[in-house]
Amino acid sequence: MTISEPDVAVRPGAVPATEGRPAQLEVTGVDKVYQARRGEVHALSNVDLSIGRGEFISLVGRSGCGKTTLLRILAGLLAPSSGTVTADGESTWRGGKRNDEAFAQFGLVFQDANLFPWYTIADNIALPLKLRGVARRARRARAAELCELVGLPGFENAYPRELSGGMRQRAAIARALSYDPKILLMDEPFGALDALTRDRMNLELQTIHAQAGATVVFVTHSINEAVFLADRVVLLTPRPGRIRSITPVPVARPRSLETETTTEFQTVVRRLRHELDEE
Ligand SMILES: Nc1ncnc2c1ncn2[C@@H]1O[C@H](COP(=O)(O)OP(=O)(O)OP(=O)(O)O)[C@@H](O)[C@H]1O
Ligand SMILES: [Mg+2]
Repeated sequence: MTISEPDVAVRPGAVPATEGRPAQLEVTGVDKVYQARRGEVHALSNVDLSIGRGEFISLVGRSGCGKTTLLRILAGLLAPSSGTVTADGESTWRGGKRNDEAFAQFGLVFQDANLFPWYTIADNIALPLKLRGVARRARRARAAELCELVGLPGFENAYPRELSGGMRQRAAIARALSYDPKILLMDEPFGALDALTRDRMNLELQTIHAQAGATVVFVTHSINEAVFLADRVVLLTPRPGRIRSITPVPVARPRSLETETTTEFQTVVRRLRHELDEE
């Protein structure tokens, strides 16, 4: 693994990497081998990653390199073949068994919004609260607050079919935020959106991250998007996925669309594109 430092000075306001901050998510020596019908698939090899509290990590790499696998392991949907994952110092997997307490603090957003079509937006957003036994009144109040936060005010009583793709993704983000997760895991949440909507979603996600203060791991195929959002960009090698590099993004926040035209931003993007091309 190499740590590449972009040739740019850290500007005031830039978020430093993990130094001085306790790790919130610690991945140590994680390997994943799938037992598929056509034989074993070695998806991840010896992944070590330490993610700080409130840090925004983008995860990039070629198709099939193991990004979703790593996210699913972090999310507790999949057990690693070996290695450990800890959240706030708690092991998330113990002897192949999921530690549900550790996972209670995770929020997940996938490529499809996966809203229940027969529930209103407010009921979809508040579903995790319902499952946790929160009273109806408190659920409605929280749903209204979250609709505001993700830019869907007044849509509480609408149904998913009445919303655009971008709006549905925002509702999915609101649902993931409903129970104040400390860690937000997102797998190409904006992959299906047009470029303009995606830009807007990136700006909104940046605001949400700043306000909610959650630690985020964000998988994307877009290097621009990865750099725009991240404190650090983690690049995986082709299968089996190993960490090829971890690149800090020393660009001040809040970032705007103009940020993408700055030398600092473009230096990081160029470096990552170059590394991806070398794969
Ligand atoms: N359930 C499974 N059984 C067997 N092999 C799997 C399974 N899930 C994923 N794989 C394999 O593991 C490798 C990594 O898959 P993964 O979905 O993690 O890649 P990815 O980086 O998310 O790709 P993409 O960018 O296309 O989403 C691939 O070769 C894939 O075929
Ligand atoms: Mg994937």
